Amino acid sequence: MIETGKPQKIAQPAAEQRCINAACAARFDLNARLYVCPHCDGLLDVAVSISPDLDSKELRAIWTSRLESLNSHDRSGVWRYRELLPFAADAPIVTLAEGNTPLYDAPVSAAYCDLDALTLKHQGCNPTGSFKDTGMTTAVTQALILGARTVVCASTGNTAASLAAYAARAKLQCAILVPRGQISHAKLAQSLDYGAAVLELDGNFDEAMRVIRELAEDETIYLVNSINPFRIEGQKTVAVELLQQRAWRVPDHVVVPGGNLGNSSALGKGFKELKELGIIDRLPRLSVVQAEGAAPFAGLFESDSNVLKPIEHPQTLATAIKIGAPVSWQKALRAVVESGGRVLSVSEQEIADAKAIIGRDGVGCEPASATTVAGIKRLVASGVIESDMDVVAVLTGHILKDTDYAINYHQEKLYTHDRAADTAKEERRLAGNYSNPPARVKSTKTAILEGLRRHEQQRDQA
Ligand code: F0G
Repeated sequence: MIETGKPQKIAQPAAEQRCINAACAARFDLNARLYVCPHCDGLLDVAVSISPDLDSKELRAIWTSRLESLNSHDRSGVWRYRELLPFAADAPIVTLAEGNTPLYDAPVSAAYCDLDALTLKHQGCNPTGSFKDTGMTTAVTQALILGARTVVCASTGNTAASLAAYAARAKLQCAILVPRGQISHAKLAQSLDYGAAVLELDGNFDEAMRVIRELAEDETIYLVNSINPFRIEGQKTVAVELLQQRAWRVPDHVVVPGGNLGNSSALGKGFKELKELGIIDRLPRLSVVQAEGAAPFAGLFESDSNVLKPIEHPQTLATAIKIGAPVSWQKALRAVVESGGRVLSVSEQEIADAKAIIGRDGVGCEPASATTVAGIKRLVASGVIESDMDVVAVLTGHILKDTDYAINYHQEKLYTHDRAADTAKEERRLAGNYSNPPARVKSTKTAILEGLRRHEQQRDQA
């Protein structure tokens, strides 16, 4: 890219790491190589103090002016908001022009949910096809600052693909741990192409996460799962970009899928910081939707307990969120509770149908992302969301991330995970309520026109 613009001079924010446990609240140097609090094992937040010279009006003006810049840092939908990020002006930024993802009006999905309107923020339009890129740009930049040789993550596929790409850009060695046979082919293909060492483990994501935390005790290895607070810093800028795209109009509800719970934590932090800066005057309600078979956070929200009970064998066809022991649940809970949001779970059938509906808006997404529309439909039905409210669903991954799932749904060959001996395969088949199967036709004009007529008829009946 030709860089004609000069990066604008910015007042660098002061920053440190802080334990989120109120009883501990230990503080650490920004560049201490930590993932959790060494005193109490609590999660860490990066706390950024914005320069007092910048008021909310000036910040908005700076960010708006950067939309016209050709400088690569200004063009990144993360680094454009660098006043909120804990990096010095000369940081060795690793960017792939992440962010800048579209907002779509989605009338078919809105009608499906019984809403007047629904907006989709499509994070699947990031460089590697998922929201992970917005956090990976900051985490891999921090890896360079700390002098790491190797960056690692455990992943259900998207974190892996994203890390592999950013590590390649940074010329760092990259190792990813994935549960063997449990991630989509597309995600695996990306990681291989970007040159990562792909290590397939027998066991699920939670086991991969446990072992990788041991691995990260080695000084030269840097862990970039969302337990790493520098990931969260990048991902929080999605909240800023979303609001800037809406001329700072705050939605009533923002709904996200929940897996390891980094995304919900990050969005919550982003909205909160905007409110503290006076850029917005209220928080949108942040709600999290999980898949029924992998919903420990929804279980916690519905219970009287204030400690998450992990699920030992999580199950869902939305493999991205097949997680039983989410690492960031305390941060996510804080964000949901502070904003007055909800946590709920939806069935495999609801996810599959919602995904097909999002496709009918011409948008599409991977299965995990469709939990949002399925969840919104439920929240409208139960009166938590009113039909005329302003609602944003955050789609987290691109439709091409899991084409097997889409093809199987449309051919009514999608079977749920429940393999109990007494459950016949037929009973595990998901209905193709909005399926659109391919039709075989002869290569004649008449046969093709007839095929088109039948297709139209089938759609009218649906
Ligand atoms: N949607 C998609 C497409 C994901 O890949 C993930 C997580 C989530 C939602 C959930 O986000 O973990 O921040 O709550 N994927 C991780 C991975 C776990 O390894 O790619 P979360």
